[in-house]
This record gives sequence, C-alpha cells and structure tokens, in this order.
Amino acid sequence: MKETQNEMQHSPIQTKENILLELKNLCVNYGGIQALQHINLTVNAGEVVSLIGANGAGKSTTLRAISKMVNLREGQIIYSGRDISRRQAHEVVKLGIAHSPEGRRVLAQQTVLANLELGAYIRSDSAAIKADLAQQFELFPRLAERRTQLAGTLSGGEQQMLAIARALMSRPKLLLLDEPSLGLAPAIVKEIFAIVQNLRSTGVTILLVEQNANLALQIADRAYVLEAGNITITGIGSDLLNDERIRSAYLG
Ligand SMILES: Nc1ncnc2c1ncn2[C@@H]1O[C@H](COP(=O)(O)OP(=O)(O)O)[C@@H](O)[C@H]1O
Ligand SMILES: [Mg+2]
Repeated sequence: MKETQNEMQHSPIQTKENILLELKNLCVNYGGIQALQHINLTVNAGEVVSLIGANGAGKSTTLRAISKMVNLREGQIIYSGRDISRRQAHEVVKLGIAHSPEGRRVLAQQTVLANLELGAYIRSDSAAIKADLAQQFELFPRLAERRTQLAGTLSGGEQQMLAIARALMSRPKLLLLDEPSLGLAPAIVKEIFAIVQNLRSTGVTILLVEQNANLALQIADRAYVLEAGNITITGIGSDLLNDERIRSAYLG
C-alpha cells in the first residue's frame, strides 16, 4: 500500500496527452560519423525544454532531424501523436514546427519584410499573414524600424530577432531555437531571452539549444544534456543548475 502511494507521488508529470514531441531511439549519421546515437527525448505542450552540451555534441543535428533537414538512420519522431519520421521539411512546417537555425541564416540581400514574408511561405491566408507581420513588429520593435533595410546590414542581435520572427511567421506550435545567444553581447542576449520567455507565455512550445548552459537551464522547465551523440543527464532545469556534474562541466 505504501509503495503504491510512493509510486503515485513519483509518477511522471507528463501524461500521454501532454506530449507534443517525442524522439524515440533516434539515430543520425553523417557518412561514417554517428552524430546521434539512440536519442530519447520528450517535449510536453507548453514547455521550454533546453538541450545543452559541448560543441559537436549533436545539438543542432537533433533540431535538424526534427525539421527534416537531415535524414534519420533509425528511430522515430512522433509529433502531436503522428509519426513524422518520413515527412518532408515543408510538411513538417505545415504541421506546426518551425526552426530558427544556428547562425541565423537570414537572406542578407533581402529586406527584413521579405525575410519575414518568406517565413510564411507555406501559408496562403494573406489577411492573417498581414496580421502576423504586425504582431512580429510589435514583439520586435527593432525590426519594425528596419523593415525596409536589407537583412545583411542588421546587427547580429537584430538578425537573431529576425530569424526568430521569421520562424514565428509560420504560426508554429513548436519552435526549435538553435543557439540564439551565439556571438551576441550580454545585453542583447538578455533581450532575446526575455522575448523567448514572453513567447512561451503565448503558448508556443520551445525546444532550445544553447551552449550557454546557465541561461538555458534558467529558462527551461526541463533539460537534457547531450554528450557525443548520447543523452547523459536529464531533469528539471532548476535542479540541473545545482547538479554537481553540470556545474563542473558546463557552468564553469
Ligand atoms: N554536415 C555535416 N557533415 C558531416 N559531419 C557533420 C555535419 N554536421 C555536423 N557534423 C558532425 O556531427 C556532430 C554533431 O554536430 P552538431 O549537431 O552540429 O553539434 P552541436 O550543435 O552540438 O555543436 C559533430 O561531430 C559534427 O562534426
Ligand atoms: Mg550546433
């Protein structure tokens, strides 16, 4: 009887209905390099989940596998109860997954506005697209001021904002965010993380990849640590901030 009670107390918070994304036994290779080795990971609806790890651990590859920029060798990706393992990139966007890639990847020779419109390429609801553009400009006033400026002339922080805003133009349920803080000054990083926090309150679920473990764990409900293509540690974000293994390896 006592055991049953304990079991109930320790039953996982995530029930099946809650799971938005599930990676099962996911393997990805680049030629002979095994970048991901049997990864298991879940993201519940409404959560911010952070994926941390050293350079080359396989963080970006995990996001690329979900958005179908790389093929799976083995395993499954379940999203909203559907197996999307064999879907193509544009289909995945249509299902509500948007990817803001590492290194921003904005179109330098196009205006801010054109970059944002590109984010809505799968949509044809022009009135709603217009409304969403207005919403992005509200969320990112710096982009509003620069809407006719070429994206290549923006600062790094502004390009990062544009990459996030472009991803949001597909109206995602799940945002895959790769290294938003990379190469940015602390004040801008703070601004961008405030925006991420703000986004989660609007109901967007976020899978965040960051080398800045401190920030990533502070903002996360839960987090996973990736080492050489394997998930080695997982837990509640605030617990991991105090975890000795994490402190010594990632928090310096
Ligand atoms: N396009 C590619 N071709 C070959 N190897 C790659 C490619 N992209 C990544 N890799 C390798 O896969 C591993 C994981 O890379 P990546 O997912 O980019 O790591 P992270 O984002 O954690 O820094 C690394 O060993 C990297 O060198
Ligand atoms: Mg990366």
